[in-house]
Amino acid sequence: MGEGAGTDIDQDDRFEIDGLEFVPSWYRPSQPGSLTLLKGIHMVARYERLLAPFDRPRMVELGISQGGSVALLALLARPERFVAVELSPDPVVPLLDALRDHHLADAVKPYFGVDQADRDRLTRIVADEFGDDPLDLVVDDASHRYDETVASFEVLFPRLRPGGVYVIEDWTGQDQVADHAVATLTDPGSPRHAEANEELRRHLEAALADPTSPLHHQARAAIDQAVGQGGPPAGDAPVHGGRPPVSRIALELALARAVPGDALTEVRLDENWVEVTRGPAALDPATFRLADLCPDHYGLLTAFPPPPA
Ligand SMILES: C[S@@+](CC[C@H](N)C(=O)[O-])C[C@H]1O[C@@H](n2cnc3c(N)ncnc32)[C@H](O)[C@@H]1O
Repeated sequence: MGEGAGTDIDQDDRFEIDGLEFVPSWYRPSQPGSLTLLKGIHMVARYERLLAPFDRPRMVELGISQGGSVALLALLARPERFVAVELSPDPVVPLLDALRDHHLADAVKPYFGVDQADRDRLTRIVADEFGDDPLDLVVDDASHRYDETVASFEVLFPRLRPGGVYVIEDWTGQDQVADHAVATLTDPGSPRHAEANEELRRHLEAALADPTSPLHHQARAAIDQAVGQGGPPAGDAPVHGGRPPVSRIALELALARAVPGDALTEVRLDENWVEVTRGPAALDPATFRLADLCPDHYGLLTAFPPPPA
């Protein structure tokens, strides 16, 4: 396993900022004065570096979960305005209390029950909260699914100022699960198998048991592949429930840098995230489509047949 944003999540790495406790954990609900963060501790320094150039930024985060990252980013960035969006309709009360207690409630607005793929809703929220002011920073740590991730990107990226930054966390998640499943299932004696992360194994089992999980189809396809001893899944069975994995967006963004244009000036990626810097081009949020930035002349985004053995 690599060092994805969600790996190495260890409750023993708990820490405090301004008297508010943050506990890295997958499962623990937030408690009064103690918020759960779904990130490994190495991501905290990463966010400090990301935020350092911004002075009181206007920012959006997608994916609140237990609220740890919202409070963390708010305390680190001291934003002028910060909107956070979460699909679950249930407000995270310890987060709301922490924002109030740290005098952040005026600047930080969590929205619960909002789908990041709901373009109209997202457009209205941003218009209500920011008016015509451009955004400095967007962090997408929500669905980690392709369609939803592209939908939010197309709404929010044009709203960034030139030089503003758009981060997509964990773009490798689906690929890592598939990779891990293949490695462990094809060769139980391998060092990778021996080092297998128990946490991830549980997630894989949960994904297999839950057909609605975003990872279900990847896990299923990886097992089909393993059972077929490395061959491709039988027939035309959809590998990803008929949809591409979220990693496709990283390929699209890379292709967007391959052609002239100043919609985006930089695309940086590692296994934690993709970081895209907005260029000076005028982009209409109503019509902006990522696919228009990356003409795929060589069919890189369509399936090439594997090279001959
Ligand atoms: C990885 S967690 C977020 C973790 C949080 N940013 C942190 O670091 O503590 C992903 C969250 O995104 C939410 N989510 C999933 N799909 C979503 C969607 N389509 N729109 C908005 N939120 C979504 C999930 O409910 C979950 O709470």
